[in-house]
Amino acid sequence: MVRTSSVVAVFAHSVVASAQSYSNPPEPWGFFVNNTIYQPTGNQSVTYPRFTELQDGTILATTSFTGPVPPYFPVFESKDGGASWEYISDLTDQVNGWGMSAQPALSELLEDVGGFKAGTILGAGNSWNRNGTRNGTHIDLYASEDRGRTWQFVSNVASGGPPNTTNGATPIWEPWIQNYKGAISVHYSDQRDPLHGQKLAHQVSYDLQTWGPVVDDVAIAEYMARPGMTVIAYIPPIAKYILVHEFPVGNSSSYGSHYPVYYVLADDPWSFRLHEHQPIVVQTANGSSKAPNASPYVVWSPYGGELGTIVVSDADSSSVYTNRCGGCLDGWKEYATPAGAVYSRAIHILGDYPDHLMIFGGEVYDDFGLHKLVPFSATVVDLGVIMGDKKGGWSDN
Ligand SMILES: *[C@@H]1O[C@H](CO)[C@@H](O)[C@H](O)[C@H]1NC(C)=O
Ligand SMILES: *[C@@H]1O[C@H](CO)[C@@H](O)[C@H](O)[C@H]1NC(C)=O
Ligand SMILES: *[C@@H]1O[C@H](CO)[C@@H](O)[C@H](O)[C@H]1NC(C)=O
Ligand SMILES: *[C@@H]1O[C@H](CO)[C@@H](O)[C@H](O)[C@H]1NC(C)=O
Ligand SMILES: *[C@@H]1O[C@H](CO)[C@@H](O)[C@H](O)[C@H]1NC(C)=O
Ligand SMILES: *[C@@H]1O[C@H](CO)[C@@H](O)[C@H](O)[C@H]1NC(C)=O
Ligand SMILES: *[C@@H]1O[C@H](CO)[C@@H](O)[C@H](O)[C@H]1NC(C)=O
Repeated sequence: MVRTSSVVAVFAHSVVASAQSYSNPPEPWGFFVNNTIYQPTGNQSVTYPRFTELQDGTILATTSFTGPVPPYFPVFESKDGGASWEYISDLTDQVNGWGMSAQPALSELLEDVGGFKAGTILGAGNSWNRNGTRNGTHIDLYASEDRGRTWQFVSNVASGGPPNTTNGATPIWEPWIQNYKGAISVHYSDQRDPLHGQKLAHQVSYDLQTWGPVVDDVAIAEYMARPGMTVIAYIPPIAKYILVHEFPVGNSSSYGSHYPVYYVLADDPWSFRLHEHQPIVVQTANGSSKAPNASPYVVWSPYGGELGTIVVSDADSSSVYTNRCGGCLDGWKEYATPAGAVYSRAIHILGDYPDHLMIFGGEVYDDFGLHKLVPFSATVVDLGVIMGDKKGGWSDN
């Protein structure tokens, strides 16, 4: 926080010049753009970044990683706000023989759960096999009791059919790990319910071994609707949880977006089903409307006023979408950032620096398989500068 004004003061105006004026090399707890965490080589690619910030400010980050067979999730650690990163482990599949194929999730246990102590790191992902002679998609839970150095299989949360996004097929996708009142819920996308092409659901565990019934989060009456890709954040000033998801419905579109981003607010992370979801729509500079598109992420920052700021990322834009009125429907705004667009781009507000918005970098969806070798990276920008509260660049809306 101390470094804010000096770094901001030297911002220039164009994208390239701004990037040059961020600290390079990155300074601890500073602002910087596209700081490489890992540079893929050969047939490797990184996308769908995920992270957790531990109680002491250490950040663990991983990513969907393709190339190695079977695939796994490489884990990296930063102890200085993303300025430097160290590779610490691989989270590998220990039970199916299929690999950790995609869609990682990380979280730290905030309270003891079952035999696991607060501070245990939980990792989940989707282990799958496309080979028709074998079974499908498994969302498996792993635990690390040594801060991400080693991982042990804990339990299978849920299983579905082989990966196949056609309605009528029965896979599951995209786990999200949520701490709540001494329990853990794992939220995911679910194609197994014959009443819904895809729905969002969760299961709760009090011991991490046994999982309660499948409870809907977002299930839409129209069969072809495919709400997908749950991410949840807590908004303390209104004491509500927010769930964001993408919402494709056949070929329909919202302001040109075929996977428009929706959100639901609820008093607790287990009762989203009781509330209506609403679309995020922003006004662009020329007065037209725009809907963010696909694989959203959401975080909350105490920066930005009485209600703080909700920050949402989508898959297709370098921008972020903010809301400073506790999620009010007409309060969404779009702001440019110097980071790139990424499939399922994760964003983060540093625990001790509410104005430090971290944006993880990787590949966009349409580039899968093209071997563009886009690095796994971290960008940290000043949320106040991004939103135009402070002088510095990055306020072009
Ligand atoms: C990527 O390359 C490695 C090394 O050549 C090979 O072992 C692996 O099978 C390749 N991965 C895929 C998905 O083809
Ligand atoms: C598919 O599974 C069968 C039976 O386990 C195995 O023999 C075959 O090698 C597998 N094929 C691939 C491509 O993994
Ligand atoms: C596939 O799943 C079914 C039902 O869970 C099980 O009976 C069968 O043994 C599994 N097959 C393989 C190859 O894992
Ligand atoms: C995917 O699921 C659909 C609907 O069940 C099915 O018709 C199709 O054959 C499946 N595709 C593959 C590759 O198995
Ligand atoms: C979407 O549009 C394509 C081409 O226009 C059409 O073939 C397809 O049936 C449509 N799908 C749905 C679900 O409406
Ligand atoms: C307004 O700006 C958006 C981009 O933000 C552009 O896609 C759209 O075409 C513009 N509309 C008009 C009427 O200029
Ligand atoms: C950061 O990297 C992304 C690619 O992920 C690229 O699109 C973007 O232009 C880069 N930003 C800067 C300022 O170089």
